[in-house]
Amino acid sequence: MEFSIKQSSPEKQRSGCVVVGVYEEGKLSPAAQLIDKAAAHQLSGLITRGDMNCKSASTLLLHELPGVTAERVLLVGLGKASELDSKTIVEILRAIFAALNATAAKDAALYIIDEGVGKDAEWVIKQAVFAAAEQAFRADGMKSKPAKAATLKHITFATLDKPAAALKNAVDQAAATAHGMELAKTLGNLPGNICTPTYLAAKALALGKAHKSIKTTVLEEKDMQKLGMGSFLSVTRGSDQPAKLITLEYHGTDKKHKPVVLVGKGITFDSGGISLKPGAEMDEMKYDMCGAASVLGTLQAIAEMGLKLNVVGVIPACENLPSGTATKPGDIVTSMSGQTIEILNTDAEGRLILCDALTYSAKFKPDTVIDIATLTGACVIALGHVASGLFSNEDQLAQELLKAGEQTHDRAWQLPLWEDYQPLLDSNFADMQNIGGRAGGTITAACFLSRFTKDYRWAHLDIAGTAWKSGKEKGSTGRPVPLLTQYLVNRANSK
Ligand code: BES
Ligand code: MN
Ligand code: ZN
Repeated sequence: MEFSIKQSSPEKQRSGCVVVGVYEEGKLSPAAQLIDKAAAHQLSGLITRGDMNCKSASTLLLHELPGVTAERVLLVGLGKASELDSKTIVEILRAIFAALNATAAKDAALYIIDEGVGKDAEWVIKQAVFAAAEQAFRADGMKSKPAKAATLKHITFATLDKPAAALKNAVDQAAATAHGMELAKTLGNLPGNICTPTYLAAKALALGKAHKSIKTTVLEEKDMQKLGMGSFLSVTRGSDQPAKLITLEYHGTDKKHKPVVLVGKGITFDSGGISLKPGAEMDEMKYDMCGAASVLGTLQAIAEMGLKLNVVGVIPACENLPSGTATKPGDIVTSMSGQTIEILNTDAEGRLILCDALTYSAKFKPDTVIDIATLTGACVIALGHVASGLFSNEDQLAQELLKAGEQTHDRAWQLPLWEDYQPLLDSNFADMQNIGGRAGGTITAACFLSRFTKDYRWAHLDIAGTAWKSGKEKGSTGRPVPLLTQYLVNRANSK
């Protein structure tokens, strides 16, 4: 799918479909007024007759209007202007693309930013690109007969006045972000027997091949042994698949600038290990590498943008399986940091691979480190499937990430990292234990990680509730690629 932006008159625009909005009060948007005038007031006529209720996200498709060059006109209801909040705008955009995808139109011109859907044109453009890409995405690549690709190939954001350079930029950035989400979704949806740690490493190497600005390195288990990553290695002990520690270094600016390091949990299947999970929905633990996938997607997005910033991706990847060699509850391991960990539950494995990856990240002399992980079921209980959980040891960083989430509608919500929770990790036998009990499970998981991130500015995103959808709509969401990419764009702009 391609996206562009240009100035043009709606009635003269050559296109498979021109999309214009109309408010519930019957008020036509400026572009709709021009179409109405050219088409002998057919739009106002049908609204007066009641053929279009103009409620938000309602649509009416019209063919071959006289005086209009485009093959079709899609009228989209905007509801009441005073009720156009972010949720409604996203619903309207989804309705537009559902209606367009039901036609044979190969391209469409959307008049939705000149006093169209809502006020903040940049925000609307981003959400429109995400909605278009979401509906064009196919998750059936492993079916013997995949459905055919979407016919709609090109979206033009059309404006009545000359579009500002900032809007052009927003289109390109949103498109690159959507491509990154697509990569994250494709990887996330792949089953554990295909998307192994070796597969993830191959994808990371391929990303390095595709972009001169990315250098990929893959460490093997023997290398991790030398580095003293006893915690990470304890998780992979039960698996026959070799663990990988993948790093991708993106150089977008002078090497003297300290990088942002993104650390993504890459458990390609989480059975729970000896602390085996119950069987129901265990298949969804193929998604336990979505943190890793979001790091790859974000790096691809910023490389496509050519962002002037240095960013490193660090991905600890392995499987968590039970076997005769697997780690047992009660086992004590020594992490790369030297701190010892009593493993009371082998299903709390994410923190065990992340802690060594976080210690390792210090080698890049980071400005900021952000880890992204499908870390706790408790996060799903706390925040549902709407917001990712956010923790940070510096409030300004938390604010910047929250803002990036708002800007992309890929929202996060901050939870506390107070010292008061730390004693829940006390162990009689080691420096700490790897679980803190049922109460505040998301917070104690973050507290565990905080013990390995004292030397730098750090944030943690728990994406257990947001990385994929269950049930009929089962599939990876590509989150939080939009949040991370926007954060990095903001950082590059502030320099
Ligand atoms: N990958 C899971 C977290 C998870 C579970 C995400 C369900 C999404 C849905 C993680 O490794 C895990 O198993 N966490 C345990 C921790 C517990 C043993 C302290 C959990 O959340 O149950
Ligand atoms: Mn687990
Ligand atoms: Zn897990």
